[in-house]
Amino acid sequence: MNKKSMMNISQQLINHGVHPYGSAEVLKFEKQLARYFGREYERWQGNKNLTESYGLNSFEGDISKSETRPESLSHYNEEYHVYRAFLDKDYLAYTMGCFGVDSYGPELKDISLEQAQMKKYELLVERADIQDGQSIIDLGCGFGGLSKYLLETYPNIKVTGINPSEVQTGYIRKELMSPDNNFDHLRFRLIQAYFDDVDSLGIELESFDRVISIGFLEHVSNIDLLQKKLSRLLKPGGLCMHHCIVSVDVLPAFLNSEDTLMGAYYPGAHIWPLSEPPRHNTHLTFKNSWFVNGMNYWKTLDEWHKRFWESIDQIYPEYLTTDEVDNWNKYFSLCKAMFIPNDGKSYGNGHFLYQK
Ligand SMILES: C[S@@+](CC[C@H](N)C(=O)[O-])C[C@H]1O[C@@H](n2cnc3c(N)ncnc32)[C@H](O)[C@@H]1O
Repeated sequence: MNKKSMMNISQQLINHGVHPYGSAEVLKFEKQLARYFGREYERWQGNKNLTESYGLNSFEGDISKSETRPESLSHYNEEYHVYRAFLDKDYLAYTMGCFGVDSYGPELKDISLEQAQMKKYELLVERADIQDGQSIIDLGCGFGGLSKYLLETYPNIKVTGINPSEVQTGYIRKELMSPDNNFDHLRFRLIQAYFDDVDSLGIELESFDRVISIGFLEHVSNIDLLQKKLSRLLKPGGLCMHHCIVSVDVLPAFLNSEDTLMGAYYPGAHIWPLSEPPRHNTHLTFKNSWFVNGMNYWKTLDEWHKRFWESIDQIYPEYLTTDEVDNWNKYFSLCKAMFIPNDGKSYGNGHFLYQK
């Protein structure tokens, strides 16, 4: 589409009160949201109370809340073309990329979103000591980004991806399991299911060297039960690494997404404080944790937001209505505003390493 018709599309949206990435209206909205989140982080600074004191118990109930599972999945079953418009081209990763901000390695200036997603995989490989020849579970595998990276990088690695989303697994079957790939697709197995149903999925016990989950723990309510089920799948000595969004302090109103604006996008989800996953030290032994500065996610989201608008003609009006564009636009702004206060030091990602 040429520049003129693209401008027409943007103008149509503006006429409906939907303003593009970088516009004065969007920047003002993001600033207001960031001020709100900044005040919340300040208010709860140093709060280390147990989550139980706010009515949330990560040792009880279903692995993920059964009543919100279908609703929560609908976000991942959004039209594939929408995700393709804004995610990185290599991995379609729908989680933070590593831009090298703070806390690990030198700052990586001017790297692309594609490179930042690869850096995330490299960091996880290093921290979870992934080696060629291992058997790995990619838990909550999205469009299969980590699986693809591992299969392409290591000629003898085997990966099992687990994901209930029809749209995402449909993409994986078509693209990742195609014989055209430059890795042996027989080294990859896809299980389309909720991990909650693991006992009936026929997965071999004590047969995996590593379990890696990226952006999955946010969907988990009972971390204890999750770890118990994962421990049965790991070989003795095997490692499990969870990468998820965390707050540094306990933010009571963020523990359940229903209490926040995020509930509209992620019903049943949780933002765990950095201190919560290490409390789970029974079924798997907690080894180490790291905080990854939130500006890495801010940069990732900002790039997604920008790419969304650069490809608006490919998704609107064919795949998204005006209201849906408005929702996505607000979603990017909202998420960015959560990571930016205090230069990403209050809200970011956690890496949690466990051993059987
Ligand atoms: C934020 S996305 C991250 C996807 C991928 N790991 C990535 O980095 O791009 C969360 C993923 O977890 C999956 N998921 C959500 N609940 C799940 C459950 N109960 N069992 C297994 N996967 C689940 C979703 O379908 C989605 O693919």
